Amino acid sequence: MAGIYIHFPFCTKICNYCDFHKSASLRLKDEIINALGREIEIQKDYLSGELIDTIYFGGGTPSLLSAEIIVQLIEKIHSVHKVSEQAEISLEANPDDLTKTYLKQLIKTPVKRLSIGCQSFYDDELAFLGRRHNAKQSYEAVQMAKEAGFDNISIDLIYGIPDSSDKIFDHNLSKTFELDIQHISAYHLTIEKGTGLYLKKKKGELNEIPEKKSFRQFEKLVKRTQKNHFVQYEISNFSKPGFISKHNSNYWKQIKYLGIGPSAHSFDIFSRQWNLANNKQYIQSVNNGEIPFTKEVLNFETRYNEYIISSMRTMWGVDLDFVEASFSKEFKDYCLTMAKEFIKSGLIIQKQDQLVLSTKGMFISDSIMAEMLYVTE
Ligand SMILES: C[S@@+](CC[C@H](N)C(=O)[O-])C[C@H]1O[C@@H](n2cnc3c(N)ncnc32)[C@H](O)[C@@H]1O
Ligand code: SF4
Repeated sequence: MAGIYIHFPFCTKICNYCDFHKSASLRLKDEIINALGREIEIQKDYLSGELIDTIYFGGGTPSLLSAEIIVQLIEKIHSVHKVSEQAEISLEANPDDLTKTYLKQLIKTPVKRLSIGCQSFYDDELAFLGRRHNAKQSYEAVQMAKEAGFDNISIDLIYGIPDSSDKIFDHNLSKTFELDIQHISAYHLTIEKGTGLYLKKKKGELNEIPEKKSFRQFEKLVKRTQKNHFVQYEISNFSKPGFISKHNSNYWKQIKYLGIGPSAHSFDIFSRQWNLANNKQYIQSVNNGEIPFTKEVLNFETRYNEYIISSMRTMWGVDLDFVEASFSKEFKDYCLTMAKEFIKSGLIIQKQDQLVLSTKGMFISDSIMAEMLYVTE
């Protein structure tokens, strides 16, 4: 089993918070589409014949691709890989791209899961984030997708916005549940270097949200999703039973994946590699039959650290038996020693041979994971 990620690096407007690789000039759009097709062919042996069970169109804004191009790219994948008949095929979509006509075309393609970037159902927050749609469009896009026949819909939400009140956040959650969707990805706003919000912060025009308020929103998110029958299977991901995103879970379960497109990452258990995040140079290299990437070979310790980082994020947590079987008894003991204080303070919960983060632990997961890693002197 393996997954394929396709990165479409274009957006018609750049949001104030986003540091993903993308360009607001669509000049190279057609050349990138050709290069994506060529990279699929060039990289055909990367997954060494594994059955493909997920395909994910991400970006950037892949909902700028026509249904016809999406089908062509999927067919290209079929021409060089064995794809499972039940493969989960997802597309990230911006609400304002989801017209009735486009949705009607999209539902006829093999894409059966939509991840819609609603972010908020409050106009002032959307304006702050620099989104190109308003709250009404966020809401109606999901309704129209349902009417078109999509029954596996996820929405992205951003919380922890500096000026948001608890009332606004409650409103955002109520609107989300009203839409009766299958999956929610809710991310705390991070101010990334090089973004519009980062510049504002540097100029002293932006205060970050106080930690207490931020945690209150996270707690609300956890409690209200639970009450509405969503399972929090990862820090930022919530699903109704049967709708866990297979593609994202594969990342956390250390399953192989191939990333196609500029900036896309690939993983084959023993190494990671990431493509150059430059559209023009990516196109030139691929046209010459070469993929421009940087590779990191993973050693025993980095593989252990990657397992800790990815498993601790999930509801399945760290499996101590797996650590012993895949690494060694020494690593299992090390893991338990590092977790001891966190277990005592209630940030990590030990359930037999499993270590999982508590809600408070999830909120400060980055600092806990940093302590849990194996470091050689
Ligand atoms: C790279 S976007 C691609 C999806 C699509 N282009 C869109 O904007 O709807 C994936 C998601 O990551 C989240 N995201 C990106 N940057 C973020 C940041 N700095 N803080 C919080 N969430 C972020 C947003 O929720 C966004 O929908
Ligand atoms: S959040 Fe989505 S639409 Fe906004 S700039 Fe990033 S990729 Fe583009």
